[in-house]
Amino acid sequence: MNINNQKKENEIILAVETSCDETAAAIVQGGEHILSNVVASQIESHKRFGGVVPELASRHHTENITWILEEAMKKAEVTFDDLDAVAVTEGPGLVGALLVGVNAAKAVAYARRLPLLPVHHISGHIQAARLERPWRYPALALVVSGGHTELVLLREEGEYEVIGQTRDDAAGEAYDKVARTLELPYPGGPYIDKLAAEGTPNIELPIAWLEPDSYDFSFSGLKSAVINTLHNAKQRGETIRSEDLAASFQQSVITVLTEKTKRAADHYQVEQIVLAGGVAANKGLRTAMSNTFASSSVELTIPPFSLCTDNAAMIGAAAHVQWKKNKTAGWDLNGVPGLALT
Ligand code: KG4
Ligand code: ZN
Repeated sequence: MNINNQKKENEIILAVETSCDETAAAIVQGGEHILSNVVASQIESHKRFGGVVPELASRHHTENITWILEEAMKKAEVTFDDLDAVAVTEGPGLVGALLVGVNAAKAVAYARRLPLLPVHHISGHIQAARLERPWRYPALALVVSGGHTELVLLREEGEYEVIGQTRDDAAGEAYDKVARTLELPYPGGPYIDKLAAEGTPNIELPIAWLEPDSYDFSFSGLKSAVINTLHNAKQRGETIRSEDLAASFQQSVITVLTEKTKRAADHYQVEQIVLAGGVAANKGLRTAMSNTFASSSVELTIPPFSLCTDNAAMIGAAAHVQWKKNKTAGWDLNGVPGLALT
């Protein structure tokens, strides 16, 4: 399909996201205007199991996908005739969950003879920033979610270079595991965040700096230290204020995330920094990042909460870049659980 230049900048995309436990659809125009953004969260269903159950996630996506698509179209007040393309998360994620979105997107695109745009889930989290303000390059994104912790360098539009990543647990995963130890509900990140705000970081916990020049992260040692601290206190018959433990854990996570982001920002002389992913909803992290870059000339972009956790508007924003580069998929598009960003 040939894309004329006017359309190229102001296209209307139907975006679909089903990589984990949110069934989401959105209509995004020109990669920056959200016409609708509908999310059906499955958290209540998975809560009782303490984490996402893949088979259950797929079933819920199958039940929800049709009405979510209809709702997104209705809220945006668009018809299928208004659409220029259909975008969908190709990966990474749970394969059975991804397949529901991929097949729904394919069905609409095939029926309406529209281009199908494949989107990497993490590029979606990163491109949520363009819904806030235009990019300035080079840019650096700190992606912190339930499955990922990465520092990604963008030298130009849509070109992603992973310069650091977690060697074990993702930041969100560490939050969720620590929360479970404190007997908090799933997903635990927001609960720890709230507790931390009420506590004092007075418990000594490790910070994994790794090699001096490394931008990688590691959170499993910290997670184990929290579990051991609780265990030892229990054995000694002592009580530990969970607010203080949450505050100490959160401080350890935030310190390493902000310090490494700052070091990478200086080294690569970036113009813009983007905080992305579910953990970017963390109030402590948002404040620490704002303070760290307050006196620098680097522009810090932190999307609103609703665009940090999984949603389809971010997929529509990332799809805009694919659209401009004519990166379309064939009808054989598949869900790819381990899809690489670069
Ligand atoms: O990006 P996301 O919605 O899904 C994935 O792609 O993983 O991220 C979900 C993760 C969960 O681990 C959740 O506990 C964490 O984001 N999270 C938070 C907060 N809100 C969500 N972690 C810390 N503080 C928060 N306020
Ligand atoms: Zn995500």
